[in-house]
Amino acid sequence: MPNLRELLHFYAEAGVDTPLEDAPVNRFAQADVKRPAAAPPAAARAPMPQPQPRQETTLPPSALSKASVPDDAKIGLARQLASSAVTLDELRSQLASFEGCNLKFTAKNLVFADGNPQASIMFIGEAPGREEDLEGVPFIGRSGQLLDRMFAAIGLDRTSVYIANTIPWRPPGNRTPTPLETEICRPFFERQIELANPKLLVALGGPAAKALTNASEGILRLRGNWKSHITTSGIEIPVMPTLHPAYLLRNPAQKRFAWRDFVSVKLRLRALTE
Ligand code: URA
Repeated sequence: MPNLRELLHFYAEAGVDTPLEDAPVNRFAQADVKRPAAAPPAAARAPMPQPQPRQETTLPPSALSKASVPDDAKIGLARQLASSAVTLDELRSQLASFEGCNLKFTAKNLVFADGNPQASIMFIGEAPGREEDLEGVPFIGRSGQLLDRMFAAIGLDRTSVYIANTIPWRPPGNRTPTPLETEICRPFFERQIELANPKLLVALGGPAAKALTNASEGILRLRGNWKSHITTSGIEIPVMPTLHPAYLLRNPAQKRFAWRDFVSVKLRLRALTE
């Protein structure tokens, strides 16, 4: 069946490579949805009803609190587990046992970190992609290879940097993590930064920059300007927001901006460590 093969190839190329269930589900048979009958011709239509005063459809407080508890509970549990970890190894184990983020159930591996946790500089990306998910190591696909070359350009490599992501599980089809997923994972990446205690942070791409600095501007405005990340214990760490290597692969002309940001990082790192 060449068409089916082509369709599957198209899905795989688009990053849709994660079946959620073993057997396909016929959603049409499942949903007992009655389609509204087609509208009658204009002449046969009844006169337009006059607008009625809007009825407030407030949920009873009990329903509201039930709706908000599960997410709050997940964030609360994440905070509790993250703060109880006193080493990065413990944090990794706590994260591995945490079931509050749905991304865990579609990912193949937890992608915790790579590089040197003693390094003075920590790079934070958004979320693992396909290759990272398969190997359980951040930034090893095409964008990771570009990142390695960017490190080399300022005299760094994976023995002198620590690398992690705000989200440690691959979102299906590489979609952007939702704000809720980021908030559920926040206690873990904040604790990871606190325990690694780098002198400088580099946020790779808009979502990481926003998650670390609470900035609301887009990455093209943010990049190149030093910001701060305040740890949960109140320590201020300088953050350089820069362009994500995956974006640079798609927009090579923008590499000159990332180069400027990396030079700024190199100078600040030198001033802090020499
Ligand atoms: N993109 C990211 O943001 N993180 C990775 O680990 C890989 C690709």
